[in-house]
Amino acid sequence: MIPGMPEAETVRAEMLERWERAAGGWGRRAEDVREMGMPVSVWMIEHIAPQPGQVLLELAAGPGDTGFMAAELIAPGGELISSDAADEMLSVARRRAAELGIANVEFKRLELEWIDLEAASVDSVLCRWGVMLTLDPAAALREMRRVLRPGGRAALAVWDSSEHNPWATIPTRALVELGHAEPPDPSAPGMFALSDADRLRELLGDAGFSDVLVDAVDVARNYESIEGFLAEILDLSQAFGEVHRGLSDMARQEVASRVAALAEPWTVDGGRVRLPGRSLVAAAQA
Ligand SMILES: C[S@@+](CC[C@H](N)C(=O)[O-])C[C@H]1O[C@@H](n2cnc3c(N)ncnc32)[C@H](O)[C@@H]1O
Repeated sequence: MIPGMPEAETVRAEMLERWERAAGGWGRRAEDVREMGMPVSVWMIEHIAPQPGQVLLELAAGPGDTGFMAAELIAPGGELISSDAADEMLSVARRRAAELGIANVEFKRLELEWIDLEAASVDSVLCRWGVMLTLDPAAALREMRRVLRPGGRAALAVWDSSEHNPWATIPTRALVELGHAEPPDPSAPGMFALSDADRLRELLGDAGFSDVLVDAVDVARNYESIEGFLAEILDLSQAFGEVHRGLSDMARQEVASRVAALAEPWTVDGGRVRLPGRSLVAAAQA
């Protein structure tokens, strides 16, 4: 608890602080995340069908790639608002936009649960792997609908359940099995908090969206070695990194061996690893 702050606000502040700290690693891994998320981003962009001149909002944009992919489709005359709650993530996205030569973009610090934009002020919304991280996803979806003009479209992605995502669960499982971490609380905000497609559909309907479509898209990660896999997870998962950094060299070795054992079913000749993953994707109309 942060003294004087209500509990929910304390939790929000702590989660945000983690994302601020995670931004460096996400910046380093931006190309890997772009590659992994490409089929998801393509699905999302197809389902909002961006048009020249439109205002497009990306929420929880992180390094910003999904919005950047759509930015050329709204030119000429259109503008992308690339947003995130973490200032450090916005810095990563600004740098990436400059590298990619994206000019029709404005960066804004926005919270998913209370989007600081006028009602009916954007034509479409994108949000890849963000909504399930909030304390109140229903509020985030209501806010998404509020800022959309009537008839505007939203496309979002959340993670499918843990059994479809060994790339994300193996490192945590290794820590838990070796007694370095508690099993994650499935009811807490996090990667798998919205992995039930029916609940996602219902939340979108309750937020006032129509024409709701929920589907699944496979993603896969290829690694040259278990060491490469672990290095990426250390960059992307603040939770894993915090525990891992506190371990002795010997304990880290044990973690690496346990990760290798758990990844064995997906390990091919030469030690390369191809780990499957699956994202839920949803599209809806305001
Ligand atoms: C898993 S990353 C996804 C980043 C990016 N959308 C992607 O697909 O690569 C989650 C992002 O959500 C942001 N985020 C977390 N909680 C948020 C909130 N309540 N409001 C807005 N952004 C948030 C984090 O800072 C982070 O950039």
